[in-house]
Amino acid sequence: MRNKTLQLLLIGLLLALAACGGGETTAPEGAAAPPAATANQVEVFSWWTGGGEAAGLDAMIAVFKEKYPEITFVNAAVAGGAGTNARAVLATRLQAGDAPDSWQGHAGQELIGTYVAAGQLEPVNFLFEQNGWIEVMPETLIPLISQDGNIYSVPVNIHRANVMWYSPTILAENGIQPPQSMDEWFAAMDALQAGGMAAPLAMGEQWTALHLFETVLLASLGPDKYNDVWEGDLDWGSPEVKTALEAFAKVLTYTNSDAAALSWQDAAQLVVNGSSAFNVMGDWAEGYFREIGFEPNIGYGWVPTPGTGGTFQFLSDSFVLPVGAPHRDAAIAWLTVAGSREGQDAFNPVKGSIPARSDGDRALYGEYLLSAMDDWANDIVVGSLTHGVVANDSWKSEIDTAMGLFLINGNVDAFQQALVAACVASGPCQ
Ligand code: GAL
Repeated sequence: MRNKTLQLLLIGLLLALAACGGGETTAPEGAAAPPAATANQVEVFSWWTGGGEAAGLDAMIAVFKEKYPEITFVNAAVAGGAGTNARAVLATRLQAGDAPDSWQGHAGQELIGTYVAAGQLEPVNFLFEQNGWIEVMPETLIPLISQDGNIYSVPVNIHRANVMWYSPTILAENGIQPPQSMDEWFAAMDALQAGGMAAPLAMGEQWTALHLFETVLLASLGPDKYNDVWEGDLDWGSPEVKTALEAFAKVLTYTNSDAAALSWQDAAQLVVNGSSAFNVMGDWAEGYFREIGFEPNIGYGWVPTPGTGGTFQFLSDSFVLPVGAPHRDAAIAWLTVAGSREGQDAFNPVKGSIPARSDGDRALYGEYLLSAMDDWANDIVVGSLTHGVVANDSWKSEIDTAMGLFLINGNVDAFQQALVAACVASGPCQ
């Protein structure tokens, strides 16, 4: 993220907050008092149904039920990693005027360039004011959930996208150190293939290829140029991007041929069961590994995706308050839990993410997540494509279409042309 832009956005936001008083007229009264529940249910929409994900949500629901026993929690989660199915269902519901009371949306362009742009969300400044959240939510994040001084969601976590999980056993057996650079990574995968492992790098369905792509793009371009392509300051047709696409094409040669048929959990499992050495996946994979009984540094190890050390490619799950929420007070109760320390400290250790709040109780987090907290505090921070930070829905969807073709034809030049066209059609390259 660009420091100056962030600072300006933050200053604007704080000024606006001070000036408008945060919409208190519509908010429940009192900083500490729970909002009055005038309806008896809250329908919360997410895509957390799968391994590792449902358990995290359940932990936060348990806190909600304890705080608001009078409200029935209706879990409207739709299965499918990265929300590929859920977001289509949500779009249909919103179109039909059938909004849930709150839904999961990523901080960044997915939120601002999609739901806010469509006028679907109510600002939640009053919740930030009443609960003192401005003090504890990261400065990096606030501008990504704000527009014109209005805050539009309640972030529950920070996930890291550029993580490569590896099998400590396979690496040790083959005398391989966890690779730090792309060259070391290629050398390791060459050695493993020469030793008979067909697919050293496990991959799943198409969105996981897009996820892998964004990490390789970051590795190849470095953080500044990576930001530049999303901000229209580096041409998608440039030689630097071509080098990145060629690197990605090479990375794909090490992946499994049945990727399209595998969920992210299936692909991650190939590492812990010893079929593949590596898998690039966000740190929700850690929640999954722990859930299925594997121990950090024994069943699985981790490094930043090779070539991305020192950079934290992030995303943040947040929950929103729709305009016309059917059970608005109950939605506010849910959001109050989602933004609370207790809610975040119940959810995140299980989910495999760190709290969005800066005051999480470190004693509750395992070894990987403690390292993620330290990296989040010290690394250069850039945003994820696949998980909504750097591109709005239409731009991302055009890139995804280009990816689908590339996975079939492997044509780097055609892929690059399609990326150029996508930036012109829906990104900042008009
Ligand atoms: C991301 C989401 C994560 C995790 C992942 C896999 O988009 O932000 O929380 O759920 O998808 O489903």
